[in-house]
Amino acid sequence: MDFRILRFDKLDSTNSEAIRQAKLGAGEGLCVVADEQTAGRGRHGRRWSSPRAGGLYLSVVLRPKIDIRHLPLITLLTGVAVHDALIELGVKPDIKWVNDVLVDERKICGILAETTETPAGLAVIVGIGVNLLSIDLPDDIAPTATSVEEVSGIKLEASQLLEIITLHLSTFYDILNEPDGPGKIVDNWRLRSTYFSGKKVRVTLSDGSFEGSTCGLEENGALRVVTPGGEIRIVQAGDVERVRVPDADQLMSPPLDPS
Ligand code: BTN
Repeated sequence: MDFRILRFDKLDSTNSEAIRQAKLGAGEGLCVVADEQTAGRGRHGRRWSSPRAGGLYLSVVLRPKIDIRHLPLITLLTGVAVHDALIELGVKPDIKWVNDVLVDERKICGILAETTETPAGLAVIVGIGVNLLSIDLPDDIAPTATSVEEVSGIKLEASQLLEIITLHLSTFYDILNEPDGPGKIVDNWRLRSTYFSGKKVRVTLSDGSFEGSTCGLEENGALRVVTPGGEIRIVQAGDVERVRVPDADQLMSPPLDPS
């Protein structure tokens, strides 16, 4: 894939601008980058804090030719690409289903893939936000977030990370387009995520939540979770949080005396 970079000083949201550009006819590979976002957004309408120079804010226009049921794999392959970019910086990341890249269980990157109808057909906009500096993290997310600076000691320019991420994105997007691409993306994700199997999680859906243990991905990237009763539930969309298992010491200690 060939990338064309469109840089902005300030935008509402790079995803919104990429959608506008796609509707105007932008082709595959257009990358919208901004130094600052005033209305950066995440999944479920959450806000994505986007201070100037505090992070990389990037959205790529894709016009995939794959079967529509495999579109969710675009989020997964983007996580794999960001994971491998961070490895190049000497960091050991993990990928949490479906759109978070973590380091030591703290979020360093979020991914938001959106589809939009355009005169040239369906476009997928994949938005990537990577925290570069911890000092800019708002108080409410600071305890569960981290940054490239914090985990690597490197004060990286957004443009440097952009170059590394787009290289990896191109590799894995090309793989997705191969005849057996969807299976290969799932395999690549499996090799990089501790959430693939055996992770105790709580899944929050629009109509409630349940707990279980992860047991692989479907071929479209949906998460399989086995409940304590042995039922396998397929999660297409929802929030997944790790459930902390108390360590042996805590299990052995006597209950607190309430008196
Ligand atoms: C999430 O974790 O919920 C996804 C966050 C995605 C944030 C990025 S920043 C660049 C792009 N523009 C946006 O408005 N959102 C994405």
